[in-house]
Amino acid sequence: MLARITSEKMSQVYRNALNKKIVNNDDTSVIFYDLSFLEERVNELVRMFPQTTLHAIAVKSNPLKKILEFLNSLNAGAEVASLPELYLTEKSSFDPDKIVFDSPVKTMNELEYAMKLGVHINADSFTELKRIAEIMEEKKTKSSFGIRINPQVGTGTILSTSVAGEYSKFGVPIKEYRKELIKSFLEYDWLRGVHLHIGSQGCPVDLLVKGVKAVYDFVNETNDSLRRKGKKRQIDIFDIGGGLPVSYKQDEKGVTIEEYRKKLFDNCEELFSDKFKLITEFGRYVHANAGWTASRVEYVKESSGVKTAMIHTGADLFLRKCYQQDEWFHEISVLDSDGNLKNGKDTTPYIIAGPLCFAGDILSKEMILPEVKEGDYVLIHDTGAYTLSMWSRYNSRQVPKVVGYYDEGERFEILKERESLDDVLNFWE
Ligand SMILES: Cc1ncc(COP(=O)(O)O)c(C=O)c1O
Repeated sequence: MLARITSEKMSQVYRNALNKKIVNNDDTSVIFYDLSFLEERVNELVRMFPQTTLHAIAVKSNPLKKILEFLNSLNAGAEVASLPELYLTEKSSFDPDKIVFDSPVKTMNELEYAMKLGVHINADSFTELKRIAEIMEEKKTKSSFGIRINPQVGTGTILSTSVAGEYSKFGVPIKEYRKELIKSFLEYDWLRGVHLHIGSQGCPVDLLVKGVKAVYDFVNETNDSLRRKGKKRQIDIFDIGGGLPVSYKQDEKGVTIEEYRKKLFDNCEELFSDKFKLITEFGRYVHANAGWTASRVEYVKESSGVKTAMIHTGADLFLRKCYQQDEWFHEISVLDSDGNLKNGKDTTPYIIAGPLCFAGDILSKEMILPEVKEGDYVLIHDTGAYTLSMWSRYNSRQVPKVVGYYDEGERFEILKERESLDDVLNFWE
């Protein structure tokens, strides 16, 4: 299992970045990505699934163009959930057959655009299948097609990111529409794939596997029907979605991809045979533990027996954490102004507060930390997924610089410069 990025390593990387002047005084916050770690995560996926599997990494979890280009260079694919995400992957030079287009609200124009490119498209509803059929009457395409099925196997611990309950706004619910789903496969010659996604974080492996198994059984039943009706075609594209949870705690043993693979194999063995082209759509598993963020402590205030460290990023970068305090978690470490890791425990607890103008802009409720001083840096761990991609424009603060590094900080690459004031102006005018 890939070793986690420790506070000591982050401190070492930060000191290197200071020495090499990769970060400077204007960089009140900096987002770091360990590209060696990211590469290893992708390699792990490749090792765990059949060689022909398309690992379409969920762009929504981290849409930085340089990261997409890096993933493309590793031969990974991309799962996109909007026209702009599709455009981003096109501009990052992904081959169309490495792109999977999901979205519950694809317009006719967007479908035509995607079909012209020839990407794999997962329809979200029967109505969308009809739209695709209409376009097919007029135009040829290299696209392949699947339909998203809600296996209705239940929700995980985080409701807002669970999408396989009895009700979900995504996909076709299998219990209610099983017959109609089979009919669609009989009717549309070009429909060859199934797609599901159970949720993101908070869904245990057993729930993920239960969802895949429900769709797997459906596929076997449908393929029997197709055979009985004398159709040559079979469902042979199986997209299992993403959702593998990650650990946000250093000393907690997270779920491993090996464990997921084993349970999938035990329950749905043929997925690993040449009967199917498998697609995965992992996002968080690939990115979350590869990133961390450093933010300067501008002030430390003390009142009511607690100290508040005021830093330069809050709900703008950590939308989920700040708006759903109890559902999400990031470990915090502290560096001094030279980047050295601080140890010890202050006797007063700390609140880590962001810079935005609302009371809920709190990154961490009372926690025990080493003594934090003005000019120190707070390190927020595991910030590689669903952070920058969810950037909030509230208070119009500048998006921080994003720095990639290899080999524990021996080599750096700027992935995105800090936004300028004019960049912010451009957004609003
Ligand atoms: C359709 C779909 N696929 C894949 C993902 C990626 O999930 P995760 O980042 O948890 O792997 C998501 C995230 O919500 C999704 O909606």
